Amino acid sequence: MPLRRFISPETLLKPFIIVKNMALDGWNEVAKMLGLDEDLYYNPLHKKLSRPVSVILIGAGHRGSIYADFAKKNPGEMKIVGVADPNAYRLQGMAGIHKVPAPNCFESWEDVFKKEKFADAVIIATPDYLHCAPCMKALEKGYDVLLEKPIATTEEECRQILARAKEANRIVGVCHVLRYTPYFRELKQILDAKMIGEVISIQHLEPIEYIHMSHSYVRGQWRNSKTSTPIILAKSSHDADIIRWLVNNPSDMIHCFGNLKWFTAANAPTGSTERCIDGCAVEGTCPYSALQIYYRDRKRLHVFDLPEDKTKWDKAIMKGLKTTNYGRCVYRMDNDQPDHLTLNILFKNGVTAAFSMEAFVSYEGRRTRIMGSTGDIYGDMENFTLTSFRTGKKLTWSMKTDSHGGGDHPMVKDWVQAVGQQNPALLSSTIDVSVESHIMAFAAEKSRLNKTIENIIV
Ligand SMILES: NC(=O)c1ccc[n+]([C@@H]2O[C@H](COP(=O)([O-])OP(=O)(O)OC[C@H]3O[C@@H](n4cnc5c(N)ncnc54)[C@H](O)[C@@H]3O)[C@@H](O)[C@H]2O)c1
Repeated sequence: MPLRRFISPETLLKPFIIVKNMALDGWNEVAKMLGLDEDLYYNPLHKKLSRPVSVILIGAGHRGSIYADFAKKNPGEMKIVGVADPNAYRLQGMAGIHKVPAPNCFESWEDVFKKEKFADAVIIATPDYLHCAPCMKALEKGYDVLLEKPIATTEEECRQILARAKEANRIVGVCHVLRYTPYFRELKQILDAKMIGEVISIQHLEPIEYIHMSHSYVRGQWRNSKTSTPIILAKSSHDADIIRWLVNNPSDMIHCFGNLKWFTAANAPTGSTERCIDGCAVEGTCPYSALQIYYRDRKRLHVFDLPEDKTKWDKAIMKGLKTTNYGRCVYRMDNDQPDHLTLNILFKNGVTAAFSMEAFVSYEGRRTRIMGSTGDIYGDMENFTLTSFRTGKKLTWSMKTDSHGGGDHPMVKDWVQAVGQQNPALLSSTIDVSVESHIMAFAAEKSRLNKTIENIIV
């Protein structure tokens, strides 16, 4: 048993829960009783750093802001000392929050590397097609890296980055944030401790949720596989990675079915218009109405770069609906991403996994069923129940997290510690282990397009 697992508070608390004969609702109650934070994440390898790790943020959009926020909350551990983004609003906003001096603010990632190395590490949170080039350059310049997923848009580029990282002997963490969520961390420890015996199979569902689907993969920047990456990579590389991590064995073969069934011109309702604000006859009843989602319900607004003064939002959102893809009819886009797909994976040890990615669901939060030789588990990211076949007893766990599963900042923390201590062992999602999930995703896309079963060769 690894030291980390042996002395982690979760481990220490687990027997306590079992002794209590499953009478407690879950970790939250245990945590409250002991006066601990609800998320009991504790990594015994963490140390107090002698100074904060200095970081240049490349891409100050949605993900970049979340990662940079870690520095705001943990000034002793991470400091943003440079920022690059062609979007002046985001560049200036980020520079203002982190007091980045003007000479360290750049309009594009290339400019960062024209200067001599001036920080410990870079975070790359640019669009999918802009991951490989800045990462290769950062490694060449001697920076450690936190790289958003997907690692790159082709398998060849993924392998190039892996090779360059090894050659340069630098730390490259990949933002597979699910590994750092309390839910999957707990499941991993339970499986590693053989609490349900040998894993036999996994059934895993990724419910994208219908509005999220329309926002990101029909209207948004990942709507077209050719200009971003296939959805199996863009959205589900997390899931391939997490299944591989839980099974703890190399994948062998993969098969995928999936297509774009609903968000097509053929399904555009009679009376619908190019934009929802153009007098669309069905706007009032369409579940994908941009007016409803963005203007009335004020959801997913980060894409509009709204002013701080909320009294100006009506006008600014309406302008966004008139001028950006977010105001367009979901049936009249240039999208090609499947809105449903299924994946079958065979691992080398005989374990099988069935995965579904579904757009047409009213909820988010991965659903997991794990079948083991002496027990099973089912869960939904915030709760899970383990049933022992030997005793029939149930162990339940529950924890409320943020909408992204609560893994973002624990991941940044491990990465900062890995860089600060120059020890990649602190990271779960290093480039070495992350490449396999990408190879699985590329093979799955090949299988989907060619109707084949693909071997996975890492
Ligand atoms: N790990 C996860 O769970 C997760 C979740 C969502 C998105 N992502 C990935 O994170 C990445 C960023 O996604 P996002 O939602 O933050 O997108 P975003 O559009 O909000 O942010 C990307 C930023 O990069 C900037 N940019 C574009 N060109 C640039 C250049 N030449 N130099 C520097 N900056 C440049 C853009 O102006 C934008 O501000 C994507 O690759 C996406 O697939 C990961």
